[in-house]
Amino acid sequence: MNLVNIDDLRVTDLEAVLDRAADLKAAGPGAGEPLANRTLAMIFEKPSTRTRVSFETGMTQLGGHAVFLGPDDIHLGHGEPVRDTARAVSRYADFIMARVFDHSDIEELAAYATVPVVNGLTDSAHPCQTLADLLTVRERFGFDSRVAWVGDGNNVCQSFVLGAAMVGLDVTLATPEGYGVDDAVFERAAALGNPPERAAGPEAAVADADAVYTDVWVSMGQEDEREEKLRAFEGFQVTTDLLGDRPLMHCLPAHRGEEVTDDALESDNAVVWDQAENRMHAQNGLLTWLAERS
Ligand code: CP
Ligand code: NVA
Repeated sequence: MNLVNIDDLRVTDLEAVLDRAADLKAAGPGAGEPLANRTLAMIFEKPSTRTRVSFETGMTQLGGHAVFLGPDDIHLGHGEPVRDTARAVSRYADFIMARVFDHSDIEELAAYATVPVVNGLTDSAHPCQTLADLLTVRERFGFDSRVAWVGDGNNVCQSFVLGAAMVGLDVTLATPEGYGVDDAVFERAAALGNPPERAAGPEAAVADADAVYTDVWVSMGQEDEREEKLRAFEGFQVTTDLLGDRPLMHCLPAHRGEEVTDDALESDNAVVWDQAENRMHAQNGLLTWLAERS
């Protein structure tokens, strides 16, 4: 069992992972060492603060160990095919988590690894972020709500749309022309019974929303598109005016002054630090759940 896309999980699996995450969060250090002697290999082609630290500290808390493999540390993609890395690392580690550019690379890792592979972000998906987001939504305002996504229909957005569809959380999208979620993601959300609504713009999107979610306009690897994207996203900034008294979600890191203003992010409405903390609890829930199935 792998977590390449959030909808690799069945709805009941997703609920079980969230429940387990909440239990581990509540238990704190009393959770024991369910992953004693287990090792997580963490492959990073891109930088990370939250993903790296949350997985590594999570493994420590669960009694296991994590190995950090940065872009200059291993042969992945340059010097050794992805499939060979998958097979070799599987002979040592009990899980592989990878943050890569091409989604097809995590698919290849998962196809050839003989241990669970967890997607730590690709150019088109970020399912671990969605687990943390759903845990946060469940804690803060519940799934019987509507979240307005304002900004880029990017990797974080696509996984959130799918995860939300799985739990019955409503999503309204306000994305500039040409920067919406992929049609295939929309269709998968529709097949899950709860596709997102599309709004004419940010104001329309937030009008009946209970919370607002945004992410950077220029994702890692898109630096060459920066000027073009900044022009396209004019008018899509989340300000305190747009936010009103709604909770503000952001996966972080934030580019203050671009997709979100400094005062909005610093306001009491921001639940972004809960989202960041919940990365660790959600992933602890996921890894312990996966360990029982491998
Ligand atoms: N949200 C998230 O994945 O953050 P990092 O890039 O710091 O890991
Ligand atoms: N969309 C952002 C998310 C970072 C966690 C990126 O891919 O850079």
